[in-house]
Amino acid sequence: MLRNTDATYGTVAKLLHWVIALLVIGLIAAGLFIGTLDDDDPLRKRLIGLHAPAGVLVLFLSLARLGWYLVSRPPALPEALASWEKILTRIVAIAFLVLLLAQPLAGIIMFDYFDAPLSFYGLFTFPDLLAKNMDMVEQVGEFHEIFGVTLIVLIALHLAGTIKHRHFDKDKDVDVLKRML
Ligand code: HEM
Repeated sequence: MLRNTDATYGTVAKLLHWVIALLVIGLIAAGLFIGTLDDDDPLRKRLIGLHAPAGVLVLFLSLARLGWYLVSRPPALPEALASWEKILTRIVAIAFLVLLLAQPLAGIIMFDYFDAPLSFYGLFTFPDLLAKNMDMVEQVGEFHEIFGVTLIVLIALHLAGTIKHRHFDKDKDVDVLKRML
């Protein structure tokens, strides 16, 4: 079924979750690698050319996820979870939501200050709204780096929670991974 039910996520939410997860992990790995390359390395330019539109795709998919969340409410957290786990789960979910919008936006703003044309797979090109400013490229780049590191921490917390509920908690009602598979 496409929609979420009280017991499980539907196909739309599952697809959005896993496609965004794969893209974000790939983008973080590529971004960290790009950061190690010299400015004049041709591979840097080529990788940024792949990284940027894939990051924009994450922005669109995250907006779609937010829209779908409003249309089809996700299943409630299992009652058996401790209240600190419910609170932490909510904090991590909200932080993901905010960062998966803020991170690509930071990338788009960086591109704009750099005056580099940003095409979304040839479908359209972002308008050049901001005058070239290399100081701002640096500053927004710092945010892009901090958001990237924060995403790594969030992914680690998210994975740790999922593994704990599946393999270490005695109450099998808290195995939330099966609702997303
Ligand atoms: C969710 C989406 C995205 C994620 C998770 C992501 C992640 C990252 C990470 C972790 C880095 C390495 C940061 C560092 O160590 O300095 C990076 C670098 C970079 N990203 Fe993204 N990014 C995303 C979207 C975008 C978008 C949409 C653009 C441009 C339109 C972009 C442009 C860049 C550029 C130009 C760099 C290289 C910065 C430098 O080394 O100077 N990113 N990204």
